[in-house]
Amino acid sequence: MTKGLLIRDGRLIDPSQKIDGIGSLLIRDGKIVWLALGELFPPGFDYDVLLVNGLIVSPGFIDFHCHLREPGFGTKETISTGGWAAAKGGFTTICCMPNTKPPLDNKRTIKYVKSKADKEKVVRVLPIGCVSVGRKGEALVDMKALAKAGVVGFSDDGDPVRTAKLMIAALTDSRELGLPVIDHCEDPVGGAPKGEEKIVARDIKLADKTGGWVHIAHVSTAGSVRLIREAKAKGIRVTAEVTPHHLTLTKEALKKSGTLAKVNPPLRTKRDVQALIQGLKEGVIDIIATDHAPHTLRDKQGDFASAASGISGFETALGSLMGLVHSGSLTINEMIACLTIKPAQILGKQLGSLAVGTAADITIFDPNKEWLVDVNQFVSKGKNTPLAGSIQKGKVVVTISAGEHFVWRGREKLEANFR
Ligand code: DOR
Repeated sequence: MTKGLLIRDGRLIDPSQKIDGIGSLLIRDGKIVWLALGELFPPGFDYDVLLVNGLIVSPGFIDFHCHLREPGFGTKETISTGGWAAAKGGFTTICCMPNTKPPLDNKRTIKYVKSKADKEKVVRVLPIGCVSVGRKGEALVDMKALAKAGVVGFSDDGDPVRTAKLMIAALTDSRELGLPVIDHCEDPVGGAPKGEEKIVARDIKLADKTGGWVHIAHVSTAGSVRLIREAKAKGIRVTAEVTPHHLTLTKEALKKSGTLAKVNPPLRTKRDVQALIQGLKEGVIDIIATDHAPHTLRDKQGDFASAASGISGFETALGSLMGLVHSGSLTINEMIACLTIKPAQILGKQLGSLAVGTAADITIFDPNKEWLVDVNQFVSKGKNTPLAGSIQKGKVVVTISAGEHFVWRGREKLEANFR
């Protein structure tokens, strides 16, 4: 029998089982095989011990929205660098958006992404397919074929689903497949924030009409939260996500960080931030997703209008979110639920839990560790973050992805220290 690893004396937090207490868990052959609160030990001695002394032991984080840039934009990020950056940030499952070159609108490109990720074996990578061929907003992709190839949703992210007609077709087909249409809500004509709310309102109406499932990506305004709240109260099939940056930063950040704070949707006002936090606590917004959007610093330079939009988010997500926990805006259980079991439920997969028998995807973090955001230490190629130079409180110490364990001074596996 393979040797196991006992993670001992951690604060186990698993909202899926309503667990929060000091205890230990044993992993073996990529699975969680035993868990107990208190001072119990598993039977037998065929395991190494990782003593974590009160650090938080959570199910591995799941990110429903990120950009890995491959194929096509390997100077910004690759599936390899993005995967390692995700693991460093505590993520063990990540869903990558299809605005690549070529875009993920066909089986072949989706298979390419999957096989590259499988070869790398860092984290679980689940691709999202395009809604429209070439992301052009015209013809619908062959949704059935893409679902067969393994996509977990459909999106023209970076742009909204362009027309109501296309949205109706997408929602109708995706309903049959049980997968969400993930919309980037932005109407360039309406102007922000009204432009966002106009498309959120359209999508809700069409989800109601078709019975399809719309997922609103990166919600950023108080008005959108209100629309989603009303829709959920009516039983319309809508889910939603919010990013760490929209939960923690306002447009004030633009003064200090310039284009590094340029992101789409843009950072909003304090009032919006408060509404987003309230929406998350109420469950109106279901999950937290990073929208990790790496760019070269060159692409972020130049005048504001032409600079690329996006924030490299994997490696600062936990630090940002723990800021909300330390200030009392979110409880640690709320934060973890929005990063684990709730995205797992949206994916419809048996993930995001420390339940015995499930995959040994585990994130161990120190909630009080203070650290300086030094982008030169980022594993991601994307050094683009307005948090550069800031102090964060809360850091991932170990990420275990399907039973493999990684430590984050460099890329070496912890294994060497235990065997
Ligand atoms: O800021 C953004 N960057 N928002 C998006 O929707 C797309 C993303 C990207 O791909 O860079």
